[in-house]
Amino acid sequence: MTEENATILIVDDEADIRDLIREVLQSEGYHCLEAANATAALSLLERETVDVVMLDIVMAGKSGLEMLSELKMLHPNVAVVMATGISDMDTAIECTRRGAIGYLTKPFKLSEVVRTVRQAADQARLERKPRDYHDELERRVEEQARTIRKSFFASMAALSFALEAKDPYTAGHSRRVTDIANAIGLKMGLSEDELEDLHWGSLLHDIGKIAVRQDILNKPTTLTAEEYEHVMTHTVIGTSIVEPIVNNRRITDIVECHHYRYDGLGLKQRLKGKQIPLLARIVTVADAYDAMTSQRAFRPALSRKEALNEIRLAKGTQFDPVIADLFLAMSDSEVTPQKREILIADDEESIRLLVRSALGDDFTVIEASDGLEALKVAHTRKPALILMDILMPKKDGLAACHEIKSNVDIKDIPIVMLTGIAHDLDKELSTNLGADAYITKPFTPDYLHEKVKSTLAENDSLTCKA
Ligand SMILES: [Fe+2]
Repeated sequence: MTEENATILIVDDEADIRDLIREVLQSEGYHCLEAANATAALSLLERETVDVVMLDIVMAGKSGLEMLSELKMLHPNVAVVMATGISDMDTAIECTRRGAIGYLTKPFKLSEVVRTVRQAADQARLERKPRDYHDELERRVEEQARTIRKSFFASMAALSFALEAKDPYTAGHSRRVTDIANAIGLKMGLSEDELEDLHWGSLLHDIGKIAVRQDILNKPTTLTAEEYEHVMTHTVIGTSIVEPIVNNRRITDIVECHHYRYDGLGLKQRLKGKQIPLLARIVTVADAYDAMTSQRAFRPALSRKEALNEIRLAKGTQFDPVIADLFLAMSDSEVTPQKREILIADDEESIRLLVRSALGDDFTVIEASDGLEALKVAHTRKPALILMDILMPKKDGLAACHEIKSNVDIKDIPIVMLTGIAHDLDKELSTNLGADAYITKPFTPDYLHEKVKSTLAENDSLTCKA
């Protein structure tokens, strides 16, 4: 806020006085709002951001003095200047005691009005600064905590992927389980928070296997009872790895309980039925389905039909019957991981068409025809990657790129700028604004495809290393 664009609310029951003050303050560059009584003023303060209130003391209904106490309680940041025809010292003192920082006596000297309002606006700005600073500090600490948590999860998940990759039969298992669990969670209408916990819990569900003997883990024949018991320690070990850092019961519950049977008859099981946390019950189904439909060293992969039949047979014994029924009713395309979404933001229809035909087989291409729409879609769909034209109506690509990279929720989406030929400045600006790569127009479909794939791969590996 600066004094020039500060917003002043004039509260006076005399329209002539409000007009006069408004004209004077507007000519000084202030933005003015008006209210004819205390009730209207308080309701306006609920809706608008106001820096200074110029408040008449004697008004019909609630007096200015009564309103002052209420206003300072509800909006402590707002500076108040009292205005009145009563020239009495006691009233002035009482106003100050209740939080007013200025006092004007009618008839007003307009120069005095301007000077007092300017002082009040300055003071409001100074008072607000430490609060803004405090809010900013809190926001940064929160962001930092989220980044640390995400980094930990990502490095743990990378460890899990590396472990799975040692055995061709389990490679990619955690990622597939995560996709399937997410599909079930979406179908069940879980909240965003629950879906995020489900995501991390699924990715990390087998992390404890890093402590399981490799020869047993990859054994090509059926396990003995002892070997099975040894493998099953991964749930307890995994929990002890994740718990001290994650401090999130829903995630650790998934790691600990994803082999729990619904009927409670599993190995060393301490819960049964609905006592088993919901997200763990979801992962149990997703985990079993992926395991059955993947080839293992000791057996071939089951077909989708066979795996669904197994789930049907174990409904109510191994699996939660409600989740099992819901899963059985899901179509293959719902269960199978969706293609990653690529957003093309370009005002030229021909470019959007070219992108669609170049990427359509491997990705789901979504479109925006201007910068504002691109921002909206980035927020709502969180695509895997954005291809961003620079010259666009409503908001240009550089500004949209900057806004995306400054927003904690979407800043990790990689952006590939589509720059005009020989526009080195565009490339430099794109890089400075956080763009991950650029493509010079005109480009071939193959080149585009390659660039999208390599940028995604680079971004995925950065996410895992983070
Ligand atoms: Fe497991």
